[in-house]
Amino acid sequence: MTMLDPAPTTAPLSLAMREGSQEAHTEAEGSAFMAELTSARVNALGVRDYLLRYREVYRTMELLGAELAGDAAVAAVVDPALDRLPAIEDDLAYWAEVAGAPVPAVFHSPATDAYVARLLAVRAWAPLFVAHHYTRYLGDLSGGQVIGRVLDRELGLEGRGIAFYAFPAIPKPKPYKDGYRSRLDALDLTPEQQRQVVAEVSVAFELNQAVFTELGEDLAGYLR
Ligand code: HEM
Repeated sequence: MTMLDPAPTTAPLSLAMREGSQEAHTEAEGSAFMAELTSARVNALGVRDYLLRYREVYRTMELLGAELAGDAAVAAVVDPALDRLPAIEDDLAYWAEVAGAPVPAVFHSPATDAYVARLLAVRAWAPLFVAHHYTRYLGDLSGGQVIGRVLDRELGLEGRGIAFYAFPAIPKPKPYKDGYRSRLDALDLTPEQQRQVVAEVSVAFELNQAVFTELGEDLAGYLR
């Protein structure tokens, strides 16, 4: 390689993942349930039902993260500092009590079950798991931080019920996200494999969108 060689033309994986999901991201932000949540208009029952769905998603992701950690791509992103399941359990207990609606041990809904089924299916080729990991955890470290702050401020929570949005082991999300993206960009994947991972990010966004659509079906019952 000389100084005159052209720069590689393949976009870094992290950029392709971000750009490939930009439209879906805008759509997710605009979904009725998300819009109400980020305006702190969702009631305790709504937050409980939202968390019931994501408890299943994160339970599955965090089990799979451990199971698939032998894969180099998975090992590059999994990190106990990201784990959300204990935080979701804490928040569920809080919101269920406020709502006067108990927490079932397990929860099923069509959108939840479809999401979990897809997560289990990516075991067939572990790098696809990275797409799901990216979609949720980088989102939690980005927009999730905004949502947590709005809920805390608007509802006067003083930190209660918003553990899902707090990463005590990651005091500065920005450098953490930069490091995460660098690790994605360093993965040893062929262009075709990268294309598959980028496509799976779109699948992950669709699965999230379906969860919001499902919650939006009962929106009137979820507003304060
Ligand atoms: C109203 C809700 C949301 C808001 C306000 C929001 C806001 C944001 C913002 C401001 C960023 C950029 C952060 C940065 O530059 O570091 C971001 C990134 C991201 N968001 Fe969201 N978001 C929302 C919902 C979602 C949802 C529902 C998902 C996925 C299910 C998601 C996934 C992501 C991902 C994966 C990134 C990282 C993009 C990258 O840098 O590669 N977001 N979000």
